[in-house]
Amino acid sequence: MTATTPHIDNLLHESRRFPPSDAFAESAVATSDLYERAAADREGFWAAQANALHWHTPFTRVLDWSNPPFARWFDDGELNVAYNCLDRHVEAGLGDRIAVHWEGEPGDSRSISYAELTAEVKKAANLLTALGVGQGDRVAIYLPLIPEAIISMLAVARIGAIHSVVFGGFSAESLRARIDDADAKLVITADGGYRKGRAFPLKPTVDAALAPDADGATTNVEHVLVVERTKGEVQWHEGRDLWWHDEIAVASAEHVAKPFPAENPLFILYTSGTTGKPKGILHTSGGYLTQAAFTHKNVFDLHPESDVYWSTADVGWITGHSYVVYGPLANGATEVIYEGTPDTPHPGRWWEIVQKYRVSILYAAPTAIRTFMKLGRQIPQQFDLSSLRLLGSVGEPINPEAWVWYREVIGGGLTPVVDTWWQTETGAIMISALPGVTTLKPGSAQVPVPGIELDVVDERFRSTPADEGGLLVITQPWPSMLRGIWGDPERFKETYWSTFGPTTYFAGDGARRDKDGDIWLLGRVDDVMNVSGHRLSTAEIESSLVSHPMVAEAAVVGASDETTGQAVVAFVITKASHADAAAAEDAAATLRAHVAQQIGAIARPRQVFIVNELPKTRSGKIMRRLLRDVAEGREIGDTTTLADTHVMSIIATTVR
Ligand code: WTA
Repeated sequence: MTATTPHIDNLLHESRRFPPSDAFAESAVATSDLYERAAADREGFWAAQANALHWHTPFTRVLDWSNPPFARWFDDGELNVAYNCLDRHVEAGLGDRIAVHWEGEPGDSRSISYAELTAEVKKAANLLTALGVGQGDRVAIYLPLIPEAIISMLAVARIGAIHSVVFGGFSAESLRARIDDADAKLVITADGGYRKGRAFPLKPTVDAALAPDADGATTNVEHVLVVERTKGEVQWHEGRDLWWHDEIAVASAEHVAKPFPAENPLFILYTSGTTGKPKGILHTSGGYLTQAAFTHKNVFDLHPESDVYWSTADVGWITGHSYVVYGPLANGATEVIYEGTPDTPHPGRWWEIVQKYRVSILYAAPTAIRTFMKLGRQIPQQFDLSSLRLLGSVGEPINPEAWVWYREVIGGGLTPVVDTWWQTETGAIMISALPGVTTLKPGSAQVPVPGIELDVVDERFRSTPADEGGLLVITQPWPSMLRGIWGDPERFKETYWSTFGPTTYFAGDGARRDKDGDIWLLGRVDDVMNVSGHRLSTAEIESSLVSHPMVAEAAVVGASDETTGQAVVAFVITKASHADAAAAEDAAATLRAHVAQQIGAIARPRQVFIVNELPKTRSGKIMRRLLRDVAEGREIGDTTTLADTHVMSIIATTVR
């Protein structure tokens, strides 16, 4: 097993405990009887959670697992996901409640009530229908974090179509690959967005993505809807491009939400795997919404009438789907969304937003928390954070020091911190404390949420003893589980359901259970890196490097990094000689820029080392473990299986 365990020593000695306060426990949404109810009748438990939604046609079957790994949940029921997130709250008299407080990076803002959001989504749904989008059609969404991102997603859902949101930091090439794979018919984008104090363009990237490729191949995109955000210059493709505001202005605000089957696809979201090609993770409607809403309410202790909830995630990631759009809105929450970076125009921007909107629940990533820790407590201390009563963490293990800092400095020493483990594939939170029930243990994600069955096993599928590392598996189907990889059922089976047979989901994470049964995540066991909570594939970055004419061979590893968790470090053999230091430096800079341009800035390697050889086994497999030793400045491990055992000492000298 090659799990990276940067904090393991630290974790083994962590002994601080934080039981819920009496006051918190007394008014908590989730109580311990949830565990008992789920244990007594798991399917009945999930049926009860599903029935918190509105079903146009009630379901009579809970789970069909007769053809694993293809699950069907609530499959004879019919619902409309957008109706559940919008109309039903308005019909319940909550139309004036703010759904979204949006904060733009330059300081502009907009607060949108449930009634207004419903009206906007109805107009957008009519517009999409007028553009020929219908049930099952794919719509690519490539937007900054502005209200139109949420409106677009819900409008697509409302008409039974399928959205594929592509993070605005991805390149034209990445966008094109996703448009092609899903065969999207429509793209929704903006002229640009704001980040780091500057307007960045998006429309030119869409234009480049839709241009004929080297072989002259085009896409099936018929229209591009463009939201005006930065008023930057755009090139216009007559007949294809349409301004969002022009079209919305003439769209009717009357739209009746039609029911769709529970298993109607809701979205595709691409994520990195162990090979170069991103996987289109497919989620459907009823089960997904059930678990997103249930976990959002219970893990975050949501009291929708009084809480102000803020997840800092972008809608380009799964957290932005489940815990910015679907979970919170299905629960009638009031939430904050923020377009920009945490340090623009000053390093206290997040805390200023918490103060401004009196945010009570904050859901963020460990990488951000560690960055704030480095900057020092004097920054958050300038703001009134007393509205906060619960903090959440997601994306990677949160080390105990960051956990305790988060609670002490941001949470005023009072707030529970819930560390939530889940994946794009799981759709919703799978492991977490329940804040009014669980005694919190910094650094551990703790226990499966009620209704989830999982285990930590060795290679032979035996549960590992307490305190021993193993592989995390999910042993029973769950409502928000992925239903497949778009267009590739074989890869779906192979990736997740082959290691331990067709009914056991292999998550790709290492884990360990302690003597109390609490789970500690130990990082990925495959060639997937986790940089600032974002998944990146070593293979994808390697193939990007090799696509540069200068490169003969490349190996990429994720090296531990104090702030970002892991960082991308590349070892490259160039074709021409870049032997002297200056030439190597130039080549490294060129290649870092090349990867950023090809995949997106998040994939830009922290370092590129130009080397003469790579460490390989006799069968030709690159030994990344050894490269990781070099990248992390460690003593180099066992080299005896290398074809040429001198290689490592040569590489180590080059790198120094
Ligand atoms: C990692 C993000 C430890 C893990 C929701 C997983 C975590 C991958 C945690 C999924 C956590 C996420 N503790 N590790 N609380 N949350 N991970 O698909 O390796 O972007 O497999 O979903 O992030 O990343 P994804």
